[in-house]
This record gives sequence, C-alpha cells and structure tokens, in this order.
Amino acid sequence: PAAPDYAARLLTWFDANGRHGLPWQHPRTPYRVWLSEIMLQQTQVSVVAPYFERFVAALPDLPALARAPLDRVLALWSGLGYYARARNLHAAARACVEVHGGALPRDFDALLALPGIGRSTAGAILAQTWGERFPILDGNVRRVLCRWHGIDGWPGAPGVEKRLWQLAEGHLPQARLADYTQAQMDFGATLCTRRAPACLLCPVREGCAALRDGRVDELPTPKPG
Ligand code: ADE
Repeated sequence: PAAPDYAARLLTWFDANGRHGLPWQHPRTPYRVWLSEIMLQQTQVSVVAPYFERFVAALPDLPALARAPLDRVLALWSGLGYYARARNLHAAARACVEVHGGALPRDFDALLALPGIGRSTAGAILAQTWGERFPILDGNVRRVLCRWHGIDGWPGAPGVEKRLWQLAEGHLPQARLADYTQAQMDFGATLCTRRAPACLLCPVREGCAALRDGRVDELPTPKPG
C-alpha cells in the first residue's frame, strides 16, 4: 500500500488499541512531554509512570526545575538510572530560562541544541505538543520500519539509519501528528515486538515485506560483532 495508507491504518489501530491514559498525555504540556520523553529514552512506560508523577508533583513546571538544586533533581531521578539524563534535563531547563524566556522552544534546531535532546526526541516533542510534522526514530520505530520495508543491515549503521529517517518522513500523515507519534511507539512496544510479534493482529500486515518474505524473525539485522 501507499505511504498515506500506512499512517491511516496505524491511527485507526491506535484509536482502538493504543495507550490513551498515560500521565504525560493529561495535560499534554511541552514541559511534561519533554520530561516524559527523557525518562522514556532508556526506560519502559510502566517503570516511568510513577517516577513521572512524583517528579511533576515536586517540580510542576520548567522554571521550578531550573530553580531546583541538582541534588534535588537527582534524588527525584533516583532509581531510574542513566543519571546523565537528569543532569542534562536540569542543564537544559536552566538554558531555557537563560535564553528562551523560561519555556521550551518551539523550534527544532533550538530543541536539538539543548543537552539530552537528539533528533528523535526533538521531533517527538514538537509532534506531541504542537502537532508539528516531524518523524521519530527510536528503537521501536527502527524495528518496525526495517521489517515493513525489508531493510537489511544493522539499523544503527549510518547508511541504514539515513534510509530509515527518509522512510519515517515518508510515512508522516498530514494531520494527527501527536497521535501518530504515540501510535508508532505503542505499536512497536505492544504488537511489532522484538520477539514473537503479533502479525495476525497487525493493522499494516498488508504491505509488510518481512511478513511477505517470511523474515520477521530475521529483521532488524542484529548489531555486527
Ligand atoms: N518511548 C519514548 N517515548 C514514548 C512514548 N511517548 N510512549 C511510549 N514509549 C515511549
């Protein structure tokens, strides 16, 4: 099927089967989306949720985070691991106060310049908070795209990654970018999983190269070495 069809089918699947009650979705502010994306970079949803609630209860907005001593931020992060994320978060909040008037910038390059925010996180923030048309490419999305397009080669290899970004861009719908972003994460996390994906239930099984060729278990190609 054509690219628009892919997004439409994922969105329809998401309406019925996606996660709609995640704490950072209600209310969906830039600060809360940003914080959740940083926490979710290396940690799964079920673990993140209670930490997220505790964190925003203590530090409800970006200026509060910027004012807090680093020790307090690290204490709130305690148990989540990868503490560089908390240090970067704190530094980024202070930078936003210094140069962006105390708010997260609504600009891709300005977001990318903040510590801890890479290309996928910047896109995830802009799509989820403002509905802007940016792709994401986290581990889940890489796996899904490698399977659907039958891409060989480790997804972390520069050439493969470049191709995956192009494919992710090509699938973007014209509207509902926040839902589409969450739909991809939910689809990868719950259906097109690393092991034993639920192809029988898949909304985009039609058009999936890996399924057609019997290569779902082979893709994505593992990291060499
Ligand atoms: N991983 C990164 N962002 C996520 C999100 N919004 N929902 C689920 N998993 C994620």
